[in-house]
Amino acid sequence: MPVPARTTVRDLARCKSEGRRFAMLTAYDFPTARLLDEAGIPVLLVGDSLAQVVLGYDTTLPVTMDEMLHHCRAVARGARNALLIGDMPFGSYQVSVEDGIRNATRFLKEGGMHGVKIEGPHLELTQALTELGVPVMAHLGLTPQSVHALGGYRVQARSEEDAHLLLAHALELEKAGAFSLVLEAVPAAVATTVTRSLAIPTIGIGAGAGCDAQVLVVHDLLGMGASHEAGPKFVKRYANLGETIVEAATAYRRDVEAGTYPDEAHSY
Ligand code: KIV
Repeated sequence: MPVPARTTVRDLARCKSEGRRFAMLTAYDFPTARLLDEAGIPVLLVGDSLAQVVLGYDTTLPVTMDEMLHHCRAVARGARNALLIGDMPFGSYQVSVEDGIRNATRFLKEGGMHGVKIEGPHLELTQALTELGVPVMAHLGLTPQSVHALGGYRVQARSEEDAHLLLAHALELEKAGAFSLVLEAVPAAVATTVTRSLAIPTIGIGAGAGCDAQVLVVHDLLGMGASHEAGPKFVKRYANLGETIVEAATAYRRDVEAGTYPDEAHSY
Protein backbone atom coordinates (compact mmCIF):
# COMPACT_ATOMS: atom_id res chain seq x y z
CA MET A 1 0.00 0.00 0.00
CA PRO A 2 1.47 3.43 -0.86
CA VAL A 3 2.43 5.47 2.21
CA PRO A 4 0.68 8.87 2.13
CA ALA A 5 3.14 11.75 1.92
CA ARG A 6 3.70 14.06 4.87
CA THR A 7 1.37 17.10 4.84
CA THR A 8 3.23 20.36 4.25
CA VAL A 9 2.38 24.02 4.67
CA ARG A 10 2.12 24.20 0.88
CA ASP A 11 -0.59 21.52 0.95
CA LEU A 12 -2.57 23.67 3.38
CA ALA A 13 -2.15 26.73 1.15
CA ARG A 14 -3.49 24.62 -1.73
CA CYS A 15 -6.48 23.57 0.42
CA LYS A 16 -7.32 27.25 0.88
CA SER A 17 -6.94 28.16 -2.79
CA GLU A 18 -9.04 25.15 -3.85
CA GLY A 19 -11.69 25.74 -1.18
CA ARG A 20 -11.05 22.41 0.60
CA ARG A 21 -11.52 22.36 4.38
CA PHE A 22 -9.13 20.45 6.64
CA ALA A 23 -9.14 19.22 10.22
CA MET A 24 -6.55 19.73 12.93
CA LEU A 25 -6.42 18.17 16.40
CA THR A 26 -4.15 18.44 19.39
CA ALA A 27 -1.99 15.48 20.37
CA TYR A 28 0.35 15.06 23.31
CA ASP A 29 1.60 11.47 23.23
CA PHE A 30 2.81 8.63 21.01
CA PRO A 31 -0.29 6.35 20.92
CA THR A 32 -2.73 9.20 20.32
CA ALA A 33 -0.55 10.70 17.58
CA ARG A 34 -0.40 7.29 15.88
CA LEU A 35 -4.18 6.87 16.01
CA LEU A 36 -4.93 10.41 14.79
CA ASP A 37 -2.44 9.93 11.95
CA GLU A 38 -4.21 6.68 11.05
CA ALA A 39 -7.51 8.62 11.04
CA GLY A 40 -6.01 10.92 8.39
CA ILE A 41 -5.86 14.10 10.48
CA PRO A 42 -3.43 16.17 8.39
CA VAL A 43 -2.26 18.62 11.09
CA LEU A 44 -1.44 17.82 14.72
CA LEU A 45 -0.79 20.54 17.26
CA VAL A 46 1.15 19.80 20.42
CA GLY A 47 -0.83 22.51 22.18
CA ASP A 48 0.11 24.17 25.42
CA SER A 49 -3.34 22.92 26.48
CA LEU A 50 -1.04 20.04 27.51
CA ALA A 51 -0.81 21.99 30.78
CA GLN A 52 -4.53 21.55 31.50
CA VAL A 53 -5.63 18.30 29.89
CA VAL A 54 -2.53 16.19 30.56
CA LEU A 55 -0.58 17.84 33.39
CA GLY A 56 -3.58 18.98 35.47
CA TYR A 57 -2.85 22.70 35.77
CA ASP A 58 -5.72 25.23 35.91
CA THR A 59 -4.36 27.31 33.01
CA THR A 60 -1.80 26.92 30.22
CA LEU A 61 0.63 29.30 31.92
CA PRO A 62 2.83 26.93 33.95
CA VAL A 63 3.90 24.55 31.16
CA THR A 64 7.62 24.81 30.34
CA MET A 65 9.66 24.48 27.15
CA ASP A 66 11.14 21.21 28.41
CA GLU A 67 7.70 19.75 29.15
CA MET A 68 6.46 20.82 25.70
CA LEU A 69 9.50 19.29 23.98
CA HIS A 70 9.14 16.02 25.90
CA HIS A 71 5.60 15.62 24.51
CA CYS A 72 6.54 16.89 21.03
CA ARG A 73 9.12 14.11 20.72
CA ALA A 74 6.52 11.47 21.64
CA VAL A 75 4.06 12.86 19.06
CA ALA A 76 6.79 12.99 16.40
CA ARG A 77 7.54 9.31 17.00
CA GLY A 78 3.86 8.44 16.54
CA ALA A 79 2.79 10.53 13.51
CA ARG A 80 4.27 9.78 10.11
CA ASN A 81 1.97 11.79 7.85
CA ALA A 82 0.67 14.80 9.74
CA LEU A 83 2.24 18.23 9.71
CA LEU A 84 3.39 18.74 13.32
CA ILE A 85 3.12 22.10 15.05
CA GLY A 86 4.55 22.90 18.47
CA ASP A 87 2.83 25.53 20.61
CA MET A 88 5.24 28.06 22.09
CA PRO A 89 4.50 28.19 25.84
CA PHE A 90 3.98 31.30 27.93
CA GLY A 91 7.28 33.07 28.56
CA SER A 92 9.16 31.37 25.72
CA TYR A 93 8.80 34.22 23.18
CA GLN A 94 7.67 37.37 25.01
CA VAL A 95 11.07 38.46 26.39
CA SER A 96 12.77 39.20 23.07
CA VAL A 97 12.78 38.18 19.42
CA GLU A 98 16.14 36.45 20.00
CA ASP A 99 14.67 34.41 22.83
CA GLY A 100 11.67 33.54 20.64
CA ILE A 101 13.95 32.37 17.83
CA ARG A 102 16.05 30.29 20.24
CA ASN A 103 12.97 28.57 21.65
CA ALA A 104 11.17 28.16 18.31
CA THR A 105 14.19 26.48 16.76
CA ARG A 106 14.27 24.02 19.69
CA PHE A 107 10.83 22.78 18.59
CA LEU A 108 12.32 21.81 15.22
CA LYS A 109 15.76 20.64 16.38
CA GLU A 110 14.80 18.79 19.57
CA GLY A 111 11.04 18.29 19.32
CA GLY A 112 10.68 16.90 15.78
CA MET A 113 8.11 19.60 14.91
CA HIS A 114 7.73 21.22 11.48
CA GLY A 115 6.52 24.62 12.67
CA VAL A 116 5.41 26.58 15.72
CA LYS A 117 2.26 28.33 16.89
CA ILE A 118 2.45 31.73 18.58
CA GLU A 119 -0.38 33.46 20.46
CA GLY A 120 -0.99 37.14 19.73
CA PRO A 121 0.21 39.58 17.06
CA HIS A 122 4.00 39.04 17.36
CA LEU A 123 4.89 40.50 13.99
CA GLU A 124 8.64 40.89 14.34
CA LEU A 125 9.09 37.34 15.63
CA THR A 126 6.76 35.93 12.97
CA GLN A 127 8.75 37.67 10.24
CA ALA A 128 12.13 36.64 11.68
CA LEU A 129 11.10 32.98 11.99
CA THR A 130 9.56 32.94 8.51
CA GLU A 131 12.81 34.31 7.07
CA LEU A 132 14.72 31.59 8.93
CA GLY A 133 12.46 28.93 7.40
CA VAL A 134 10.37 28.19 10.50
CA PRO A 135 6.67 28.06 9.56
CA VAL A 136 4.54 30.11 11.94
CA MET A 137 0.89 29.42 12.75
CA ALA A 138 -0.54 32.58 14.30
CA HIS A 139 -3.31 32.59 16.94
CA LEU A 140 -5.77 35.44 17.60
CA GLY A 141 -9.09 35.92 19.40
CA LEU A 142 -9.16 34.17 22.75
CA THR A 143 -5.49 33.59 23.50
CA PRO A 144 -5.49 31.44 26.66
CA GLN A 145 -2.03 32.58 27.77
CA SER A 146 -3.66 36.00 28.40
CA VAL A 147 -6.55 34.53 30.42
CA HIS A 148 -5.88 36.80 33.41
CA ALA A 149 -5.75 39.96 31.27
CA LEU A 150 -8.89 38.92 29.36
CA GLY A 151 -10.78 38.28 32.61
CA GLY A 152 -11.50 34.61 31.81
CA TYR A 153 -12.18 32.39 28.82
CA ARG A 154 -14.58 34.71 27.00
CA VAL A 155 -15.65 35.25 23.42
CA GLN A 156 -13.47 37.98 21.87
CA ALA A 157 -14.00 40.64 19.18
CA ARG A 158 -17.67 41.17 19.98
CA SER A 159 -17.58 44.94 19.41
CA GLU A 160 -17.08 46.51 15.99
CA GLU A 161 -13.86 48.16 17.19
CA ASP A 162 -12.40 44.88 18.49
CA ALA A 163 -13.44 43.07 15.30
CA HIS A 164 -11.61 45.70 13.21
CA LEU A 165 -8.51 45.35 15.38
CA LEU A 166 -8.62 41.56 15.01
CA LEU A 167 -8.83 41.87 11.22
CA ALA A 168 -5.95 44.38 11.20
CA HIS A 169 -3.77 42.02 13.27
CA ALA A 170 -4.69 39.09 11.01
CA LEU A 171 -3.65 41.02 7.89
CA GLU A 172 -0.38 42.09 9.55
CA LEU A 173 0.43 38.53 10.57
CA GLU A 174 -0.23 37.29 7.05
CA LYS A 175 2.09 40.01 5.73
CA ALA A 176 4.74 39.03 8.30
CA GLY A 177 4.70 35.50 6.84
CA ALA A 178 2.36 33.41 9.02
CA PHE A 179 1.25 30.36 7.02
CA SER A 180 -2.07 29.99 8.86
CA LEU A 181 -4.11 31.60 11.61
CA VAL A 182 -6.00 30.03 14.50
CA LEU A 183 -9.13 32.02 15.42
CA GLU A 184 -10.38 31.06 18.87
CA ALA A 185 -13.73 32.05 20.40
CA VAL A 186 -14.78 34.86 18.10
CA PRO A 187 -18.23 35.47 16.58
CA ALA A 188 -18.79 33.40 13.43
CA ALA A 189 -19.43 36.51 11.33
CA VAL A 190 -16.10 38.05 12.38
CA ALA A 191 -14.21 34.82 11.62
CA THR A 192 -15.89 34.63 8.21
CA THR A 193 -14.83 38.19 7.36
CA VAL A 194 -11.24 37.49 8.45
CA THR A 195 -11.21 34.22 6.46
CA ARG A 196 -12.41 35.97 3.31
CA SER A 197 -9.83 38.73 3.75
CA LEU A 198 -6.82 36.42 4.01
CA ALA A 199 -4.98 34.27 1.48
CA ILE A 200 -3.71 31.97 4.26
CA PRO A 201 -6.03 29.39 5.86
CA THR A 202 -7.88 30.23 9.06
CA ILE A 203 -8.36 27.45 11.59
CA GLY A 204 -11.37 27.98 13.81
CA ILE A 205 -12.08 26.83 17.35
CA GLY A 206 -15.32 28.30 18.59
CA ALA A 207 -15.30 30.57 15.53
CA GLY A 208 -18.12 29.09 13.45
CA ALA A 209 -18.26 27.33 10.11
CA GLY A 210 -16.84 30.12 7.96
CA CYS A 211 -13.19 29.24 8.68
CA ASP A 212 -11.07 27.22 6.25
CA ALA A 213 -10.29 24.55 8.86
CA GLN A 214 -11.23 23.50 12.39
CA VAL A 215 -9.25 22.47 15.44
CA LEU A 216 -10.33 20.85 18.71
CA VAL A 217 -8.50 19.71 21.81
CA VAL A 218 -8.49 15.94 21.41
CA HIS A 219 -9.51 15.30 25.04
CA ASP A 220 -12.64 17.45 24.50
CA LEU A 221 -13.57 15.53 21.32
CA LEU A 222 -13.00 12.15 23.00
CA GLY A 223 -14.84 13.02 26.23
CA MET A 224 -11.77 12.72 28.45
CA GLY A 225 -12.03 15.97 30.42
CA ALA A 226 -12.58 19.58 29.48
CA SER A 227 -9.79 21.92 28.39
CA HIS A 228 -11.54 25.07 29.71
CA GLU A 229 -13.53 25.15 32.94
CA ALA A 230 -16.97 23.50 32.44
CA GLY A 231 -16.31 22.68 28.79
CA PRO A 232 -16.85 25.23 26.04
CA LYS A 233 -20.08 25.46 24.04
CA PHE A 234 -18.34 24.85 20.70
CA VAL A 235 -17.05 21.40 21.63
CA LYS A 236 -18.75 18.48 19.92
CA ARG A 237 -18.05 15.28 21.80
CA TYR A 238 -17.53 12.42 19.35
CA ALA A 239 -16.89 9.74 22.00
CA ASN A 240 -17.13 9.27 25.72
CA LEU A 241 -13.81 7.63 26.53
CA GLY A 242 -13.83 9.04 30.07
CA GLU A 243 -16.88 6.92 30.91
CA THR A 244 -15.46 3.91 29.05
CA ILE A 245 -12.20 4.12 31.06
CA VAL A 246 -14.04 4.37 34.40
CA GLU A 247 -16.25 1.41 33.44
CA ALA A 248 -13.26 -0.71 32.39
CA ALA A 249 -11.22 0.14 35.51
CA THR A 250 -14.24 -0.55 37.76
CA ALA A 251 -14.83 -3.95 36.10
CA TYR A 252 -11.13 -4.82 36.54
CA ARG A 253 -11.17 -3.75 40.20
CA ARG A 254 -14.27 -5.87 40.86
CA ASP A 255 -12.72 -8.93 39.14
CA VAL A 256 -9.53 -8.60 41.21
CA GLU A 257 -11.51 -8.18 44.45
CA ALA A 258 -13.69 -11.18 43.60
CA GLY A 259 -10.72 -13.35 42.58
CA THR A 260 -12.12 -13.82 39.03
CA TYR A 261 -9.09 -12.18 37.42
CA PRO A 262 -6.69 -13.67 36.51
CA ASP A 263 -8.48 -16.89 35.56
CA GLU A 264 -6.92 -19.89 33.82
CA ALA A 265 -7.12 -18.28 30.38
CA HIS A 266 -4.95 -15.42 31.62
CA SER A 267 -2.38 -17.46 33.56
CA TYR A 268 0.78 -19.40 32.56
O1 KIV B 1 -3.14 24.74 23.09
C1 KIV B 1 -4.04 24.42 22.32
O2 KIV B 1 -4.57 23.32 22.36
C2 KIV B 1 -4.50 25.42 21.35
C3 KIV B 1 -5.64 25.06 20.47
C4 KIV B 1 -6.89 25.10 21.24
C5 KIV B 1 -5.71 25.91 19.27
O3 KIV B 1 -3.95 26.47 21.28
